[in-house]
Amino acid sequence: MKHLFGKTGQWAFITVAMAAAAFAAGQGGDEAARGERIMNNSCLGCHDLRPIQTQAFDAAGWTMMVNSMIEKGAQVSTDDMPALINFLVRSHGPLPDGAGKAVLLNRCTICHDLERIRRHPSDAEGWEDTLSSMLNEGAMLTDQEFAILVNYLARNFGQ
Ligand code: HEC
Ligand code: HEC
Repeated sequence: MKHLFGKTGQWAFITVAMAAAAFAAGQGGDEAARGERIMNNSCLGCHDLRPIQTQAFDAAGWTMMVNSMIEKGAQVSTDDMPALINFLVRSHGPLPDGAGKAVLLNRCTICHDLERIRRHPSDAEGWEDTLSSMLNEGAMLTDQEFAILVNYLARNFGQ
């Protein structure tokens, strides 16, 4: 795709795709966008996204974490809490325990959130293909991490 469009064409394409996605997502998309905006405003003053991307919590876990950040000085209004927690759970939600969990959080959340992975159930062979194409995208995995992750993904995000 990158190579087919000039800069302007590429942006036009992205704009149209984003408009279509926003239309399709409707209310849910608005709510998610609002949650993301709240996070950007309230959570990135003291640290970057990385500590958020490397956690995987459910609603109770994120509520505790956000409350502990508020104690440190983060500002989140009561009105904004539900949208923020929803967004955090949707994008950085709980993951099954297992050897691959840490690899997934450390290696795979650099370029996109976990939503991609949840939407993409595959068998072991399919995950091997996906991981190989992620290596081409620039993901960094040792051979050992590759094997651990294929196992973990096929077991927990299999078909
Ligand atoms: C006033 C500064 C401040 C703001 C604003 C802030 N944080 Fe933090 N956050 C910290 C500090 C300091 C640490 C590292 C110390 C610690 O882990 O307790 C941290 C660590 C974290 C961690 C990693 C915790 C761990 O145990 O590894 C997460 C997750 C996190 N913040 C999430 C958030 C979220 C979500 C928000 C927005 C609601 C937020 N932070 C806003 C100061 C802040
Ligand atoms: C260096 C950036 C980067 C890293 C790190 C990365 N990805 Fe990706 N990933 C991408 C890009 C870019 C796409 C979109 C590629 C496309 O649509 O063709 C993508 C798409 C995906 C998809 C959707 C594929 C599809 O066919 O729809 C899955 C699943 C995925 N990544 C899983 C992973 C896993 C698991 C890891 C951890 C090993 C990972 N990614 C690490 C960049 C990355």
